[in-house]
Amino acid sequence: MRSRFIIKGGNRLNGEVVISGAKNSATKILVASLLTDEKCYLKNFPYIGDTDIVTELCQTFGSKIGRNGDTLEIDTPNIANFRAPSLSRRNRVPILALGPLLARAGRAEVPILGGDKIGPRPVNLHIDALNALGAEVNITPTSYQASAPNGLKGNRIDFPFPSVGATENALLASVLAKGKVVMTNAATEPEILDLIKFLQKMGAIIELGANRVIRVEGVGKLCGASHTIMPDRNEAVSFACLAIATKGKILVKGARQDDLITFLSALRRIGGGYNVMDDGIVFYGNGDLIATEIETDTHPGFMTDWQQPFTLLLTQAQGVSVIHETIYEDRFGFTEDLRKMGANIHVFAKCLGELQCRHSGGGHRHSAVIVGPTALKAINSAVRDLRSGMVNIISSLAAEGTSIVFGIDEIDRGYVKLDERLRKLGADIQRVD
Ligand code: EPU
Repeated sequence: MRSRFIIKGGNRLNGEVVISGAKNSATKILVASLLTDEKCYLKNFPYIGDTDIVTELCQTFGSKIGRNGDTLEIDTPNIANFRAPSLSRRNRVPILALGPLLARAGRAEVPILGGDKIGPRPVNLHIDALNALGAEVNITPTSYQASAPNGLKGNRIDFPFPSVGATENALLASVLAKGKVVMTNAATEPEILDLIKFLQKMGAIIELGANRVIRVEGVGKLCGASHTIMPDRNEAVSFACLAIATKGKILVKGARQDDLITFLSALRRIGGGYNVMDDGIVFYGNGDLIATEIETDTHPGFMTDWQQPFTLLLTQAQGVSVIHETIYEDRFGFTEDLRKMGANIHVFAKCLGELQCRHSGGGHRHSAVIVGPTALKAINSAVRDLRSGMVNIISSLAAEGTSIVFGIDEIDRGYVKLDERLRKLGADIQRVD
């Protein structure tokens, strides 16, 4: 918590920034490399806290890992050790290693999950999927221990909710299973497609059907592969909102329209400026913003990770905006900080939207009403989780005065050298470790 950014706000941020490889793709693809005894090359690899954790996980299992510029080379000729009961830090990825380890070593142990504090985030769907494929999973207070006494076998997995992590877990456990796996109501986020592309290069047989159906035909062996990690669409949105909140103009190099269709449409509706270019997207403040209504959803809907920076933009929009968060039950904690800065935001337990929502009637404050515009003033705040921590930083850059944002280790989990890149755009931001 003592590491912090000291930010003097009020500058318009202008220039170019290149976005990094996606955290939520790189970490999963690194785990996927455990499925082969051959070498894999991961290009455009982001060196951030979360990929460091997964690197440590793979090394514990016996992977040899080298860096060559932005290419990570990973070689796991043998699973030297199938147990990683604890790591120096935690995130949500280690549970995905159960499938690959079961396929190669028949047994596995990984630490229980860490990650963002944005709700209880259970793993029942992961465990159900692994069970359906023949794994037995024992949950201890500190780890998940798995075995597959009769090997992993094909089956049908009907997800009650299209969970990103559970779909990835099922994919990683299916590709070397005996027989066919059919998943219904699977998640199809771009990061999952990036994982599927990598698995396909390794020799996996995976078909994408209509209506969120994924079919996998298990194969006997997978080979090494080389893959360029997709650009981070969450980072792209962070820089987009930064440009608009500071009334600046930023070319976000590497941002892909394909991954951002719903975000771009929401931005156009509120009056945020952007031009799609060949090498990225230019985002700019385009005069006054106007209020709107947003509901977060699974892909291709408005992504939950975009909700926080968009909420910040809506504090600067004329009129009353409504946001219905349908993915996480507790992702509006950060609005407390925005309120202290002067924003007019109220959070409600009722569903303020039309989408069917798992949190209806649960008493979770998952809808927000924002009345804008309101001037933002500097405050001292502490990062609560990765995406809302980014809002602490963007709002401090947009506010008049000097703010301190504590707990920036959490930011380093997901953003490469953020302060250096912000300074190049004209931000007055200093890191104190
Ligand atoms: N859920 C369950 N049971 C499960 C799994 C999920 O109830 O077994 C619930 C969760 O509690 C949550 C919802 O389903 O309410 C969505 O969870 P999902 O499994 O889809 O998300 P995830 O795999 O845990 C990934 C990203 C998140 C991103 C979500 C949604 C990673 C490491 N994390 O989480 O990213 O918000 O998908 O797109 O890929 C971030 O990068 O900051 C981040 C939080």
